[in-house]
Amino acid sequence: MSIPPATDQAQGPAIQVQGLEKSYKELRVLRGVDFDVARGSIFALLGSNGAGKTTVVKILATLLKADAGTARVNGFDVGTQAAGVRQSISLTGQFAAVDEILSGRENLVLVARLWHRKNPGKIADDLLNRFSLTEAGSRRVATYSGGMRRRLDIAMSLVGNPPVIFLDEPTTGLDPQARIEVWQAVKQLAEGGTTVLLTTQYLDEAEQLADRIAILHQGRIIVNGTLAELQQLLPPAKVEYVEKQPSLEDVFLAVVGDSGEDDHDRQTTSTEK
Ligand SMILES: Nc1ncnc2c1ncn2[C@@H]1O[C@H](COP(=O)(O)OP(=O)(O)OP(=O)(O)O)[C@@H](O)[C@H]1O
Ligand SMILES: [Mg+2]
Repeated sequence: MSIPPATDQAQGPAIQVQGLEKSYKELRVLRGVDFDVARGSIFALLGSNGAGKTTVVKILATLLKADAGTARVNGFDVGTQAAGVRQSISLTGQFAAVDEILSGRENLVLVARLWHRKNPGKIADDLLNRFSLTEAGSRRVATYSGGMRRRLDIAMSLVGNPPVIFLDEPTTGLDPQARIEVWQAVKQLAEGGTTVLLTTQYLDEAEQLADRIAILHQGRIIVNGTLAELQQLLPPAKVEYVEKQPSLEDVFLAVVGDSGEDDHDRQTTSTEK
């Protein structure tokens, strides 16, 4: 099948999924999944452990074949135009894929070389700057905090400048401050026109980030809408007069400070001898 001209890819949703089904032997994980993701938007796929979020992402990234249904990414069919899909995406998996022995900058330069990008050093420096890793750039990744690793991981996935990016649980295991830093990075991506599909188990993450939220449950998307649309599914809130206590997250952020700027310093003082 021929690859459609670029103009076709510039129109329509960045991701179109229809009737996707997938079983692992007897286990029917996806039973007809449908959704679209508009270009330049952030779409959150929510679901409990084992709901099938990673399975959806793997199918969209052409790492896994669906049993039935169709999916297009950037206009390319995942089943028949895998090369086109792969050129259009990057995938940041559930577990960080950075090389511990190398520095953050070396990791980025390596990936830029693999992509045959011109001027890998400049690309690395730009990305380090964008993800507030400039100071930490020359340090071995082994000395990074979880949040710094995640940011580096996302930065690495941007080296190829893909129009669509998949983030599978980008903030699992991060502290509240590091999560906010990753959220800021993701928001900036979408503002720059990148389409982001992220999976998460955290409701607040979807609330903070996503233009649309879909809930995957028992093999299907059971709701799909904006936060406001999802909130309307419930009866109107009862009006009660209570003293609002700060949430634990408010307290945590107030005590440790939520600037995010001192992340490197925090690490530098605690890990460098
Ligand atoms: N290669 C595989 N072989 C057999 N079963 C699998 C395989 N991969 C996933 N599964 C099962 O399919 C179901 C969906 O898995 P998946 O990883 O897609 O869920 P998830 O929503 O990403 O979960 P989590 O939130 O834990 O990451 C789970 O029950 C899982 O055990
Ligand atoms: Mg998963």
